[in-house]
Amino acid sequence: MSKGPGVQKMFDAIAPNYDLMNRVMTMGQDQGWRRFVVAQAGDPGNGWALDLATGTGDIASLMAHSHPSGHVIGADFSLNMLQEAQKRFQKQSIAWQACDANHLPYGDNNFESVTFGYLLRNVDNSLQVLREVYRVLKPGGRVVCLDTTPPQKNFLYPFIRFYFRFGIPFLGRLIASDEAAYAYLTGSTMDFHTAEELAAIFTEAGFVEVDYRKFMMGTIGVHWGRKR
Ligand SMILES: C[S@@+](CC[C@H](N)C(=O)[O-])C[C@H]1O[C@@H](n2cnc3c(N)ncnc32)[C@H](O)[C@@H]1O
Repeated sequence: MSKGPGVQKMFDAIAPNYDLMNRVMTMGQDQGWRRFVVAQAGDPGNGWALDLATGTGDIASLMAHSHPSGHVIGADFSLNMLQEAQKRFQKQSIAWQACDANHLPYGDNNFESVTFGYLLRNVDNSLQVLREVYRVLKPGGRVVCLDTTPPQKNFLYPFIRFYFRFGIPFLGRLIASDEAAYAYLTGSTMDFHTAEELAAIFTEAGFVEVDYRKFMMGTIGVHWGRKR
């Protein structure tokens, strides 16, 4: 069965508490990673930048703030998340649009950059989404992806696993009154591609100059690449 409908329902439900939960869960580091994403995506000039799975809009907002001459679209399939984004960033001219990352409603070769935070972990087929992203990017356009990465089995592993298994679901219950959603989040992290595997999928989708950097004790990865 496709993950889509369950994921959409889950994000619709946690939308009001999403930002607070994010700050607490990542110990305030999440905005720094988003700034890194925007820096890697580069300046769209007066062209278009797409932030997919924009959620409550942080990456789209940072992009619009850093590059005021560009046009920014924040797109997501959860209407409640988009509503939060719209409320939070009313003063910025960002186009908020509903769409499914598996089938993008945009023509070929449209965007200077496509960014997404925590999308691929939630889709059935990362390669299909990356091929869609490749299609809508202009030649030379940049893709930048922020997501969780399964931790490596080193001396920190038991502590990270403990935090994932018990700490994050506990915070989910406390802050968002939704332990199940945050248990899903940690489960989907453990099952997700390693950073090396994900880089190989970017290459398979056609991207060149693919590379990545890890953050937060190797549990967060930012991948990037360029359309030929
Ligand atoms: C964890 S949130 C991340 C939000 C934001 N990018 C951030 O950095 O905080 C993941 C978002 O991906 C969206 N999403 C998941 N699968 C999607 C899909 N197939 N198409 C569009 N949006 C999707 C969810 O609705 C949710 O808003």
